[in-house]
Amino acid sequence: MDKPIYVTRSSMPPYEEFIEAIKPLWESRWLTNMGKYHQQLEKELQDYLDVPLISLTVNGHTALELVIQSFGFPEGSEVITTPFTFVSTTHAIVRNHLEPVFCDVKESDGTIDEKKIEELITPKTVAIVPVHVYGNICNIEKIKEIADKYSLKVIYDAAHAFGIKYHNKGIGNYGDAAIFSFHATKVFHTIEGGAVVCKDQDMYSKMYDLKDFGIRNEELTASVGANGKMNEFSAIMGLCNLKYIDEVLNARKKSYELYSQLLSDVPGIRIPKPDVIATRNYAYFPIFVEKKYGKNRDELHRLLAEHNIYSRKYFYPLTADQACFKNRYKNANLKMARQLSNQVIVLPLFEDLQVKQIDSIAKIIKDNSISL
Ligand SMILES: Cc1ncc(COP(=O)(O)O)c(C=O)c1O
Repeated sequence: MDKPIYVTRSSMPPYEEFIEAIKPLWESRWLTNMGKYHQQLEKELQDYLDVPLISLTVNGHTALELVIQSFGFPEGSEVITTPFTFVSTTHAIVRNHLEPVFCDVKESDGTIDEKKIEELITPKTVAIVPVHVYGNICNIEKIKEIADKYSLKVIYDAAHAFGIKYHNKGIGNYGDAAIFSFHATKVFHTIEGGAVVCKDQDMYSKMYDLKDFGIRNEELTASVGANGKMNEFSAIMGLCNLKYIDEVLNARKKSYELYSQLLSDVPGIRIPKPDVIATRNYAYFPIFVEKKYGKNRDELHRLLAEHNIYSRKYFYPLTADQACFKNRYKNANLKMARQLSNQVIVLPLFEDLQVKQIDSIAKIIKDNSISL
């Protein structure tokens, strides 16, 4: 490859359109503090994501950290979660002075193994934080059943699940709350950004307080909040990007399907298959490099890099095995999560990825399988 191909590349709206859209800010000088564009983006996303209430934040991590905080769980309470995720999920739990209890995941698609949740529940358990990893949807019904049985809250990390519908409803409708990430690398982005979605007006108000210092009016600060507001430049980037979301998703779908077609019969290369049927957003193209392939994951990762193709070991190590968490928390048997983490490679996937680039990436993978 003459030019490097990275795992992702941000989608951008047409330059002139963005420049035109930000011009009014030079007149109004209203750059943040829940301005006009913040409000407009909340409305448009509420519609697009088909959710009752949405609160925009400065990034997805802050959304998760603050929404967990909004429940006011007692310090030291336990939260059952997945280690096969970005560190943000675990950080958000730990930074709230809660104990993550790691649950194993499913081989099929890497989501939390709902059959293993119940055995991890103790009198200290207060919540479950599952992740719709790669846009694969968790077993929402079973998780709800367990949560109802033990009076636990469910907070979905839906950072990867932008725009997904499940049973004809926006994915953010499930659980007590959910968060999205609008980071530059995501399917939809606001450069940096995120959102909390919930059904409950009370929770929405708490989120508002938490993201704006707890300030209610000029003379009243009612609670101790953080600063988690999305600014107007980001909101405008979101409004511009949202206009093109169908095109972005279509382009990603085509690339995803081409990869699937080219790689589906390569021995030892496994493409995860969602366990739960929902719409798809083609956020990532992960593959698992199994024994039959003949080279291990790290060898294939290196080989691609030698061809100027920068795939990612996304997610390796497991968050439970990261230096900051290793041996600090109770670990269930994480056999499957470890296996997937040792096998996974996420291949480049972005809006303007070219057919010939996919062909070349697939060819390298295919040509290096010892079984062909
Ligand atoms: C699973 C998961 N959770 C949370 C986040 C945090 O989102 P952000 O980067 O917008 O803070 C990410 C971000 O990449 C993520 O992948």
